[in-house]
Amino acid sequence: MDFKSEYKNKIELIDKHIENYLDNLSGIDDTLKVALKYSVLNGGKRIRSILLMECAKIFGVEYKNSINLAMAIEFIHAYSLVHDDLPAMDNSDFRRGQPSCHKKYGETMAILTGDSLLNLAFEVICNECQNGEKYVCAAQKISNASGIFGMINGQVKDIKISSKKDATESELISLIEQKTMALIRAAAVSGAIIGSASENEINLIDKYSYHLGLAFQIRDDIEDEMEDIAEQNDCPNFLNVLGKDTAIERLRYHKDKSNEYLMHFVHNEFLLSLNRYLFD
Ligand code: IPE
Ligand code: IPE
Ligand code: MG
Ligand code: MG
Ligand code: MG
Repeated sequence: MDFKSEYKNKIELIDKHIENYLDNLSGIDDTLKVALKYSVLNGGKRIRSILLMECAKIFGVEYKNSINLAMAIEFIHAYSLVHDDLPAMDNSDFRRGQPSCHKKYGETMAILTGDSLLNLAFEVICNECQNGEKYVCAAQKISNASGIFGMINGQVKDIKISSKKDATESELISLIEQKTMALIRAAAVSGAIIGSASENEINLIDKYSYHLGLAFQIRDDIEDEMEDIAEQNDCPNFLNVLGKDTAIERLRYHKDKSNEYLMHFVHNEFLLSLNRYLFD
């Protein structure tokens, strides 16, 4: 099967799983349920969930044993986007090409939708912890990366840096390491952890996903520029801090490093193709 069909199938598998899970929630308000589905099932690339499942697969974990954690990671990611788009944050009217959650359902409902997704994620993660110690370790990784030691602190740095005209590359990297890369790395590393990977293997997966995460944000900044996303123009990002040529150079460097670490593993074809698809 070619890469694109395989990627599409994986997205469909995750989306079906999420849809099924949300459809089966009972006793919750209709509008809340619709807003939850709207915010999660609106066409994300599913990079974090696929990373988790594919890294787990490298160590022999079947999808059925990783898909719930993968779904939880997508809930956390979707919550972060719903809140990130709010007027008090980036004030973005669109998300994934459609009106953002608060534009569609109002600010109050968007705040509550984000809250719900975060809590739902940890409900799913806690249930998975019944599968044993490895899942507890994965849960610790995910909670550490999504909270004040990771994504939230990154969002705070992002807000603070936005008024700075002379941000440096290292300041930008330190913010991206938390805002974007923490959850991406936690996804990949959690996959390895539930696959009983050794310390050395977990370290290699961490390095692979570190470089993937950095390349991912540089790519996002380049694409935002091409799509001329106004909110991004003034804020420091890899394009306006480095200039386009250097940004592209860094993108290639981190893609190559990411591949290099992935080459330590067999059965990595899909992930190598994913790097090509995302970064070439
Ligand atoms: C968007 O993440 C925000 C960033 C951290 C770059 P994604 O690009 O993974 O968003 P979706 O899920 O595919 O929409
Ligand atoms: C998205 O960050 C939210 C998080 C990563 C927590 P950005 O504000 O940089 O991403 P976009 O451009 O809105 O997708
Ligand atoms: Mg933001
Ligand atoms: Mg934003
Ligand atoms: Mg962006």
